[in-house]
Amino acid sequence: MTIFNFSDALLGWYEKHGRKDLPWQQSVTPYRVWVSEIMLQQTQVSTVIPYYQRFMQRFPDIAALATANLDEVLSYWAGLGYYARGRNLHKSANIIHHQLGGELPEDIEQLQTLPGIGRSTAGAIMALAFHQRYAILDGNVKRVLSRFYAVEDWPGKPQVEKQLWLRAQALLPDKDFAKYTQAQMDLGATLCTRSRPDCQNCPLQTHCAAYAQNNVSDYPRPRPK
Ligand code: ADE
Ligand code: SF4
Repeated sequence: MTIFNFSDALLGWYEKHGRKDLPWQQSVTPYRVWVSEIMLQQTQVSTVIPYYQRFMQRFPDIAALATANLDEVLSYWAGLGYYARGRNLHKSANIIHHQLGGELPEDIEQLQTLPGIGRSTAGAIMALAFHQRYAILDGNVKRVLSRFYAVEDWPGKPQVEKQLWLRAQALLPDKDFAKYTQAQMDLGATLCTRSRPDCQNCPLQTHCAAYAQNNVSDYPRPRPK
């Protein structure tokens, strides 16, 4: 008999059901992870894949991106939307190329100073590319944790978000940070989805507060009017 371990449960699920063949999971580099995370911020995986492939063929590394002109970079973004992401990517590539020695910094604070990289994206890069122990808290993870803990407030509220960050950090495993991070993204995107969570096949079901209350669809709580 052992007590429930969130990360073990999630990692076990990931081994069987997680995504392991996404383009940015092949020949992983910090640059490849960074570009994928920016593209995936507001766009789903199936849409991103062909854009990602074309972008990587034309801009295979930071130097190629930094030295290209912005209009060409944005032409590769055409169709993905949210062009500020493409502009910020180019701007950050220039900062890295001209001021940071050409490599993405392996430092959570320094990553967050780059345009377009917030705390969750920085955490994802630290975990996925550098195998360091950092949490993420994107929309998917917020939804999963809001349900798992039956959080009674809108998760966008600063004080609630702060609590969710603490919970996300407390749940981190002591190894396998890249796999764990990908597992969280996959659980939120494919199983604990916004409109049709598949609780019957969820590795967290036995300890999920919303499931126990039989009101999963009431979480996350909406933004107050
Ligand atoms: N969404 C954000 N990051 C992702 C990733 N690495 N894989 C799949 N979906 C994601
Ligand atoms: Fe989400 Fe359902 Fe799993 Fe709870 S049991 S984490 S609501 S899929």
